[in-house]
Amino acid sequence: MSAYPDYVARFYDVVYAQVRDAADKDYYVRKLASCRGRSLEVGVGTGRIFLEALKRGADVYGLDSSAEMIAVLRGKLDAEDHHRVMQSDLAQMSFGKRFDLVVAPFRVFSHIIDADDQIRALNVVHDHLNPGGVFLFDLFVPNLKLLLEGQAPVTDFDGEYAPGLRLKRTVSASSDLISQVTSVTMAFDWDEGGRRLNAEWSFPFRFYFRYEIEHLVARSKLKLEAIYGDYAESPLNSTSKEFLVHCIR
Ligand SMILES: C[S@@+](CC[C@H](N)C(=O)[O-])C[C@H]1O[C@@H](n2cnc3c(N)ncnc32)[C@H](O)[C@@H]1O
Repeated sequence: MSAYPDYVARFYDVVYAQVRDAADKDYYVRKLASCRGRSLEVGVGTGRIFLEALKRGADVYGLDSSAEMIAVLRGKLDAEDHHRVMQSDLAQMSFGKRFDLVVAPFRVFSHIIDADDQIRALNVVHDHLNPGGVFLFDLFVPNLKLLLEGQAPVTDFDGEYAPGLRLKRTVSASSDLISQVTSVTMAFDWDEGGRRLNAEWSFPFRFYFRYEIEHLVARSKLKLEAIYGDYAESPLNSTSKEFLVHCIR
């Protein structure tokens, strides 16, 4: 279970609008908005994708283990839609309804470190799908040079989080090839009440290889349809940066 600190939840939208939206948002919003029945985003976060899908008429629900991320999402949601959002660990999910589409956008499964927990998570998604229902999730294709050498601190966001208030985020990482865990550190500093504040968050992030994903899904109750290499659903090849995993019940 991942704990997103309050400052990470608070700055999530402004950072990822810049560093992630262009890659995946349109893809997932289109999938949710074109689903004829009920849909669910697991690891919904602050609603980066969910809110746009809801606005476009999707009958979409959301689940996240982080109270901080859910609080930001609820703050942006009309009261009549609060029932759509639940705080729970994915492995313990119990919605009492089934869905035609479940999505886990932007590395949700990298937060699940242990293989038994990964299987539990896949199986609980299976149990929440209608027969023929689809589960879509993504993971990053490991970059072997970065895994070996680590990521030296790099600033990936430096801008205003509100008019006249500056935020800077710097990310670094090192990986262990045996546990397949990358330790990621995100350092934030920002203007607040005339002062400069800072905080640092470190967390484990699991990386996966192609055949590991295939074997993992094969051990679960889901059926693997395809692993694409990008959000145009192109076949995987040696230049792919994404594993976009398409499963069905
Ligand atoms: C990188 S964020 C992605 C949020 C959102 N899907 C998006 O695309 O912006 C990953 C989210 O997964 C949630 N998460 C991680 N592990 C989880 C678990 N075991 N059960 C439920 N949510 C989880 C985190 O709290 C976080 O909000």
